[in-house]
Amino acid sequence: MTFADAPPRLTRLTFHGPLSEARAARMVARVAGALRAAERPTVLDLGCGWGELTLRLLAAVPTATAVGVDLNEEDLERGRALARARGLADRVEFASESATDTARGPADVVLCLSSGHALCPADAAPPYTAGALRALRRLVRPGGRVVLGEGFWQRTPTAAELAAMWPDARTDEHLYLGDLTDAAVAAGFRPEWVETASDEEWEEFEAAYLADVEVWLAANPSHPRAARARERADRHRAIWLRGYRRVLGTAYLTLVPVD
Ligand SMILES: C[S@@+](CC[C@H](N)C(=O)[O-])C[C@H]1O[C@@H](n2cnc3c(N)ncnc32)[C@H](O)[C@@H]1O
Repeated sequence: MTFADAPPRLTRLTFHGPLSEARAARMVARVAGALRAAERPTVLDLGCGWGELTLRLLAAVPTATAVGVDLNEEDLERGRALARARGLADRVEFASESATDTARGPADVVLCLSSGHALCPADAAPPYTAGALRALRRLVRPGGRVVLGEGFWQRTPTAAELAAMWPDARTDEHLYLGDLTDAAVAAGFRPEWVETASDEEWEEFEAAYLADVEVWLAANPSHPRAARARERADRHRAIWLRGYRRVLGTAYLTLVPVD
C-alpha cells in the first residue's frame, strides 16, 4: 500500500468551475478585442484561484498584463507555476489578498468567475449579486468588459433538494437568470453575451472535482487522512447528486459598462 503524504487536491480540474475548453476559447476571443483596443491593457481576476482564463488571455494578447487576487495560497502558487511554464510570469502577479473592497484596478477586462461572494463583506446578506455587480462596475475601465460567472436557480429547489444542499442553503441565495441579467443592467452594464453552463460542463466539473481524491481513497483506504477525506468526498457527492444537480446553474455574463 502506498502512503502518500496527503490526498491530491483538484488536480483533474482545468478551471475551478463548470467551464468547457470550447466556451473558454469563445470567451477569450470575445473579450480579447477590448484588451487589444487599450493602450496598456490590463486584466484583473477577482477570486482568481489559479487564474487559468487570465493566463489564456495573456497568451492571446501579448501586450496585456494581469493581476489575480485570491486567499488560497496553494491555488495562487499553482497559478504562478503555470505562468512560469508558459513564459507568462513577467506579465502576471498572483497576489495573496482579499478581493473584498480591493484597491486594485480599474482594468480593461475584469474576471469574476464563481467568486462573486469574494467581493462582498462576510456579513453581507445573500444574494451577493447586486453588491458584486456594483464593485465590478467600479473596477472596469470605459470600453472594457466584465466576465461574471455566477450561480442562478434553473428552477425553485424543492424542500428536499434544499435540505440536501450545503448547510443553511436558502432559496434567496441565488436569482433566476432573468433577474440576474436585470441586476447587471441595473448596476450600469449592457449584457453583450448571456450563456449558461451545460449539464455536460457541470458533470465534467463535479466529476473532476472529486476524481483524484476518489482514486487516492481507493488506493489508500487505511491512510491516517482517509477517514476525513472519505467523509468530505461522500458529503460533497451527496450535496451535488441529491441537492443542486440540474437546479443550480452557472451563468456567464459578458458585460459592457455603460458610459
Ligand atoms: C470556485 S473558486 C473560482 C476560482 C476561479 N475564479 C476559477 O474560476 O477558476 C472561488 C475562489 O474564490 C476565492 N475567494 C473566496 N473568498 C475570497 C476573498 N475574500 N478574496 C479573494 N478570493 C476569495 C477562493 O479562494 C476560490 O479560489
